[in-house]
Amino acid sequence: MKNTLENHGKTHEIIAIDGPAGSGKSTTARLVAQKLGFTYLDTGALYRAVTHVAMLKGVDLANEQALDALIEICDFKLSAEGDLTRVWADSSEITEAIRSREVTSNVSLVSKHAKVRQAMVRLQRAIASQGFFVVEGRDIGTVVFPNAALKIYLVATVEARTERRMLELQQKGVAVEFEKLREEIIIRDKKDSERAIAPLKKAEDAIELDTTRLTIDQQVETIVRKYKEIRS
Ligand code: DC
Repeated sequence: MKNTLENHGKTHEIIAIDGPAGSGKSTTARLVAQKLGFTYLDTGALYRAVTHVAMLKGVDLANEQALDALIEICDFKLSAEGDLTRVWADSSEITEAIRSREVTSNVSLVSKHAKVRQAMVRLQRAIASQGFFVVEGRDIGTVVFPNAALKIYLVATVEARTERRMLELQQKGVAVEFEKLREEIIIRDKKDSERAIAPLKKAEDAIELDTTRLTIDQQVETIVRKYKEIRS
């Protein structure tokens, strides 16, 4: 985005969107970014990337030192392109591979380690502090960008979140049982919100938005309106 009157002479700005799995973060963050002309950044992709490579290489996901060593030798790269976050490990693009169910069920084991988080936060800041970004994650408003211009914390009932995930998986041709998926979501939420470092939680100054009964358009409009309010 250019430095124009519309962006009030600013050269960078962050909108942070945090919340649990299936709360609508990705779709909402992408559309908010599109509407405002910001770039979208999915930070979960990085934790997924480390998990994927660690699993491929047979690294023990409970071993923080081993994961740290992996991050040292493997070049994890993230690129934010419009509404797509692409990920590489060394020269291999793993943007699709990191979405597997195996990675999804193991990622919380990896993302709880302090050393992993330090390295990933560094990468996120290096990218997003250079422009106008809508950054999506679990600790964006609390840890990564505590000075974000606008912080949104999305919530929704576990049933609504399970239904959304089921639809997403069905669209990819993956059949899953509602109850099993519900259990997986509950387990991931518990791990993400109970970990010692940078747990999933609402920043004190974040606006909580319950998306259970909102359409995507309503969610997006609410956030865009809030942003325009603070910038008017
Ligand atoms: O948003 P997602 O489902 O792709 O995220 C995958 C996992 O990564 C999530 O279960 C927790 C972790 N994560 C995190 O700890 N901090 C972030 N900022 C983003 C994701």
